[in-house]
Amino acid sequence: MFKDLVLERHSVRSYRADMPVEEEKLHYVLDCARLAPSAVNFQPWKFVVLQSADAKAGLYPSYDRPWVREAPVVVVCCADHAQSWKRRSDGKDHADVDVAIAVEHLCLAAAEQGLGTCWVCNFDAEGLKASLHLPATLEPVAIVPLGYPADPTVPEKNRKPLSEITEVR
Ligand SMILES: Cc1cc2nc3c(=O)[nH]c(=O)nc-3n(C[C@H](O)[C@H](O)[C@H](O)COP(=O)(O)O)c2cc1C
Repeated sequence: MFKDLVLERHSVRSYRADMPVEEEKLHYVLDCARLAPSAVNFQPWKFVVLQSADAKAGLYPSYDRPWVREAPVVVVCCADHAQSWKRRSDGKDHADVDVAIAVEHLCLAAAEQGLGTCWVCNFDAEGLKASLHLPATLEPVAIVPLGYPADPTVPEKNRKPLSEITEVR
């Protein structure tokens, strides 16, 4: 059931540095991100895959945690504001919404493949943009470490009850 996968996906903050992510699995999770829906199907995203030690080193001045260093792959998920849909009524730029859907596709696909991920947004966006030499229109929205979890335990979900977050009219 889809809900099993939803429960399986959790924020992994400890990775097996000794277990690389297979190329097929990396391709699979990125392809699942590619297949995400987006406003007007504009697909305003770019996924910068950091794998080499040199490439990953560019990330640490903007976000540095031991578990991010452990992860064999880090995907910097970017919004392209030059390609995103802006709602005519109020100009709202939907780049963030689109990228968020794609990122969650990636995370769920990774969980299905036995891989761990963690959404990370608490980074220095301007610093990251500069160190990765991203074009001006690209905004890093989320950093996603990807790798095999060091701890196979799947924690319980701590969520508000449905009654608190729904309103039936
Ligand atoms: C938009 C977003 C930003 C997040 N940023 C961070 C972050 O900067 N650092 C971090 O450790 N976790 C981050 N998280 C992970 C959340 O803390 C986590 O998803 C939440 O506590 C629920 O836990 P779960 O993912 O294990 O279900 C972020 C999650 C989302 C969706």
